[in-house]
Amino acid sequence: MKKILVVQFIILLFSSGCYYDKYNKLYPPGSSSGCDSINVTYSSNITTILSNYCQGCHNALTASGGIVLDNYSQVKTYVTNGKLIGSVKQLSGYISMPPGAKLSDCDIAKLQKWVNDGSPNN
Ligand code: HEC
Repeated sequence: MKKILVVQFIILLFSSGCYYDKYNKLYPPGSSSGCDSINVTYSSNITTILSNYCQGCHNALTASGGIVLDNYSQVKTYVTNGKLIGSVKQLSGYISMPPGAKLSDCDIAKLQKWVNDGSPNN
């Protein structure tokens, strides 16, 4: 009986190792838990985040805080003054956005990557 337990324990030890061996294949470096924050473009990723979480309050009709995030040049203004990243990362000195919530780590990573890339209009 003891022998069986020992064997089972050894099998368990080795089989749990498999998952970690494959980790880099499942989730390539830079994409934590399936989040692709490497291949980020304005047209496909950034506009999706903004339209899902921001434009409801920051559009031409409802410009909360006088801020409109409908198009590239408007968004760029808040990239340049640091408020886009400051507000979504909820850094001190900025008003946290969206109000009462926080974007997912994945969406924040995408915004940060795009800003680090020089916020291209691609
Ligand atoms: C529910 C409405 C609402 C949503 C959703 C919302 N905002 Fe805001 N936002 C506001 C209001 C209201 C203000 C002005 C707050 C103030 O001046 O006290 C503001 C202010 C800001 C500011 C200025 C921050 C500062 O520190 O001066 C930025 C930048 C901003 N929003 C970006 C965003 C982004 C990006 C999103 C999406 C992730 C977003 N907002 C989602 C209502 C909203």
